[in-house]
Amino acid sequence: MLRWVLGGGVLLPVLSIVALLIFAAPTGRGMLPLPLATTDPERIEVIGHQWWWEVRYPGEEGEPDVVTANRLVMPAGEPVDFRVTSEDVIHAFWIPRLGGKRDMVPGRFSTIRLEADAPGVFGGQCAEFCGAQHTGMQLHVEALERDDYDAWLDERRAPRESIEKGDAARAFGEHCAACHRVAGFPDELVVDDTEHDIKGPDLSDIGSRPTLGAGVLPMEEGAIAYWLQFHQMLKPGNRMPPHNHIETETLQDIGAWLETLAP
Ligand code: CUA
Repeated sequence: MLRWVLGGGVLLPVLSIVALLIFAAPTGRGMLPLPLATTDPERIEVIGHQWWWEVRYPGEEGEPDVVTANRLVMPAGEPVDFRVTSEDVIHAFWIPRLGGKRDMVPGRFSTIRLEADAPGVFGGQCAEFCGAQHTGMQLHVEALERDDYDAWLDERRAPRESIEKGDAARAFGEHCAACHRVAGFPDELVVDDTEHDIKGPDLSDIGSRPTLGAGVLPMEEGAIAYWLQFHQMLKPGNRMPPHNHIETETLQDIGAWLETLAP
């Protein structure tokens, strides 16, 4: 009797737990931020929103100076620390091909270190149920050679002088600019009379993104205008209000103008 109690109640659990620990400890350690890296890893912030991803790249003084959405570009062949958080509900940051996932909790930052061994394109997906469009919260991930990554960032840091400030820009300033930032967009064109204070994705380089609506629609000519008209049909419940009060022609102009926004 005593043998069974000691064997089944003490020895077996202890052995199982030790065995599990042997496997789990290195995995857990591999996911820890910092101490193991020889150099400072690149740090990229990822913020979850219902239902899209904000990606921020730290600039010279640690302040983010390049901000993009739904597309994550990272250097390949070196560890990258992703600092993740959420702006509303709990989301989870997950790039299956690169490893584990990390909950994105409002009000606090968590770090997960990942590495892409070689350049490539990977899919990312929110991994925590976060509401109606949880499945429509996809992240396009690109790992680039270090030089290409630096060039990609530099292109986006370069001051914008080419923003065309005609009627379409005016319409954007009137209908969209209260929620959406565009780097270099003139302040005097921003009309801020919205009742809602929800922040929408930064659109500074939208013309260069592979998809719209966090993976809902492939980017191609005319896609933005189409999205602006039918986004509530394409991604029901998304936080951008319908644009029924705006003329189709105006939406098409805004869409065409947004397509020009690329470094
Ligand atoms: Cu965000 Cu699920």
